[in-house]
Amino acid sequence: MPSDTLLSAILQAVMKGQPKAREDSHYPRWHLAPVTGLMNDPNGFIHFAGRYHLFYQWNPFGCQHKHKCWGHWSSADLLHWQHEPLALMPDEDYDRDGCYSGSAIDDGGKLTLCYTGNVKFADGSRTAWQCLAVQNDAGGFTKLGPVVPLPQGYTGHVRDPKVWRHEGRWYMVLGAQDQALRGKVLLLQSDDLRHWTLVGEIAGSGLGGLEEAGYMWECPDLFTLDEATFLLCCPQGVKAQATRFLNTYPSAYLSGEFHYDPASFQHGPLHELDTGFEFYAPQTTLTADGRRLLVGWMGVPDGEEMRQPTIAFGWLHQMTCVRELSARRGKLYQQPVSELQALRGEAHEWQGRANDAPALAAQNLELILESEEELTLNIADTLRVEWHATGIRLARRSLESGDWQYRYWQGKVQKLHLLCDSSSVEIFINDGEGVMSSRYFPEHPGPLTFAGPSRLHARYWSLRSCM
Ligand code: FRU
Repeated sequence: MPSDTLLSAILQAVMKGQPKAREDSHYPRWHLAPVTGLMNDPNGFIHFAGRYHLFYQWNPFGCQHKHKCWGHWSSADLLHWQHEPLALMPDEDYDRDGCYSGSAIDDGGKLTLCYTGNVKFADGSRTAWQCLAVQNDAGGFTKLGPVVPLPQGYTGHVRDPKVWRHEGRWYMVLGAQDQALRGKVLLLQSDDLRHWTLVGEIAGSGLGGLEEAGYMWECPDLFTLDEATFLLCCPQGVKAQATRFLNTYPSAYLSGEFHYDPASFQHGPLHELDTGFEFYAPQTTLTADGRRLLVGWMGVPDGEEMRQPTIAFGWLHQMTCVRELSARRGKLYQQPVSELQALRGEAHEWQGRANDAPALAAQNLELILESEEELTLNIADTLRVEWHATGIRLARRSLESGDWQYRYWQGKVQKLHLLCDSSSVEIFINDGEGVMSSRYFPEHPGPLTFAGPSRLHARYWSLRSCM
């Protein structure tokens, strides 16, 4: 479709869809969500020229995984986000089946995007190009075309470039599938962003002690924090265990020691990054003051996503809150970014037995709880947080079968920090040692209630809407 026709079709879809999405009581008040249509991965997260930019995978036409464009928001404070002109749409031969995920960089003062041009063929096969686009004076992006063709030895599943600069050179990690159908992360190197050399595989299924670790690794991100190097990745096809890797696809990380020359990554086992029902494809960036921030998609591909009731209002999925990362002994910790505290209303405090605690309005709630085990939080009769001696069990009814389903975080719990929006909760355990992110869809806005014999100390705030 010619770009003008495509753009005007998108504008029409937005004008028609936006009022309907806004009528939905499940629409978030302070998390990012699409104005209409389906949103998935965060892309191009960057602090550039004094503002944060966050791009996202977006199908403006409906709630299916098709027609992927890059939507674009920007913000000065990580709270109030403004819409920017549509950044990318699939209007070239090399990206005709989707402008897939990627990252943003500052190329000598020019905001530059690196993304995957996805091309599907009639026989079911596909190819992928890693492409560049640079911001123009109108705030949109001018495509520069492909800079990395499909590398030899891999199937058409090669995507999601994360690019960064180190000691005067550019580096890229790419998610890939090799010819033996094993998921891999590739490292590439360039001096000018235009010409790239494949350095090799730095991690994947069959490497570094990871046997049978999936058939495709998506959305890699590599960074160093407090002496350790972390590789975030989404290894599709990792086998579910009794209490781990229970989502259709997990979001995980490896931590270890990375060397550029010669390139090598010595790492430990795969850890889940967030053990809630919905979390995938996170991306990180650095702030001007050196903090490593992360935002993730509060969704999972191919699970029960097509059952979510927001589809009736023409929109699907939201982002997580922005989180700040820290590291201790090779382990990643996530905490809500401190800027979010500006949304807090009046502070409240309560102490006593859980069974006597007052019910709280669950929507737009921030709650910090200290207690002992054997306590249950019931959120709008739809989601249950069970605090046991062995950890947290999160219970939710399947949207498909109505049966209870469970997710787990295992370990001694001292503290829970919950952030709720209209249809989501993010549970930070022990100051970020674990996180569980989940959507939930109450029929009516409902309360959060407490049950159990334990004593608890609660601090809580109602959060202001900012979307
Ligand atoms: C992850 C993902 C990426 C791809 C994008 C397409 O959710 O499948 O690998 O680039 O979504 O929307």
